[in-house]
Amino acid sequence: MHESTPLCWRGIWRLPLNSHRVCSCKWKRLHNSVGATVSYKNIGDAGRELLKDLAESGVRVKVPTTVNPAAIDLRKPGSLGDSPSFREAQTEVLKSLQKMGASLTLTCTPYTISLTRPGAHVAWGESSAVCFANSFLEMYTNRESGITSIAAAIIGKTPEYGMHLDENRKPEIEVELRYKPQSDVEYAALGYLIGSQDVQVAKLQAIEALPWSTLKLIASAAAASGRVSMLTSRGAPPHSLSVTKQALIEVIEALSSASEAEVAAIGCPHLTLPELKQLACMLRGRNVARGRRIWAFTSPKAFAYSRELGILQLLERAGVEVFSGACPVVAPIENLPFSSIATNSAKAAHYIPSLSGKSVMLVSLKEIVQEFTS
Ligand code: F3S
Repeated sequence: MHESTPLCWRGIWRLPLNSHRVCSCKWKRLHNSVGATVSYKNIGDAGRELLKDLAESGVRVKVPTTVNPAAIDLRKPGSLGDSPSFREAQTEVLKSLQKMGASLTLTCTPYTISLTRPGAHVAWGESSAVCFANSFLEMYTNRESGITSIAAAIIGKTPEYGMHLDENRKPEIEVELRYKPQSDVEYAALGYLIGSQDVQVAKLQAIEALPWSTLKLIASAAAASGRVSMLTSRGAPPHSLSVTKQALIEVIEALSSASEAEVAAIGCPHLTLPELKQLACMLRGRNVARGRRIWAFTSPKAFAYSRELGILQLLERAGVEVFSGACPVVAPIENLPFSSIATNSAKAAHYIPSLSGKSVMLVSLKEIVQEFTS
């Protein structure tokens, strides 16, 4: 998710495309690019019309281009608060991107598809994916806006500055853990705390040893609360941040505005296939309780594989609503009649109150399963 607004889609478009005429910066040829913002809720009619104009005027992308989640799952009309006109507009956005040659991957975990490789220079806009790629995949990307990532996809290159240069990939602080996080939500809080330090690169010992599911929550939280674009276990930074259990508790409390919730959303960033399988295992012998809902968000690719393997059926039989290619944060859930939402994602907890007016309960996946099923 990237905070693009209709205004910036109108006003800033000319800058990246024209910038090669007015600056003498070097350019980096791209391996692939992500057009970050495809949610109609984010880009509004200005973005929809711009993409339509580009597509109809024959503009095409020059490099393999993936796209972020849409606001909604078009297979499940109305389930995320979408109206017919909203669906129509979202569909048009997707059609325009497809016409321009983008592949409708519809995920904020583009690193789970086959376009990524170590050493690749990309122009991604999804902040959580940017942090993940720079940190754990030996890839190089700045944190692009929706506009600049699409511009990069069209011209096939991006200005060579920032995170594309090795000298800028050195940590500015070292995170010293006085307490080892014990759950997914505590790791998400750790990421959020690191992001609040106003640094771009931070060092955390042995971070690569953590599972992908945890790394996704840390990277997305660090990029949501601040400008962190990379976490590393290397380097000798000049400053340090000491993290205690109390500090993590305070982050969780600050992001929690509700003490109970009717709906639980997991999959921000999108759940991978192993995570869907893990969820199915956690739910064995249990069903979503009456009056409660569990939403699980994943990519179309993981959704399709999970259906082939029978994992999707297990989840749906337990009462979980699995959404493909959608995002709980940019969905129009303000239109749904519930007031609070539980999540294990600090990124979702950060954005949901301001974007949809719902209050949030930040809890672990284990607590969600315990509280929302019987
Ligand atoms: Fe992905 Fe949406 Fe979360 S784009 S990281 S599910 S805010």
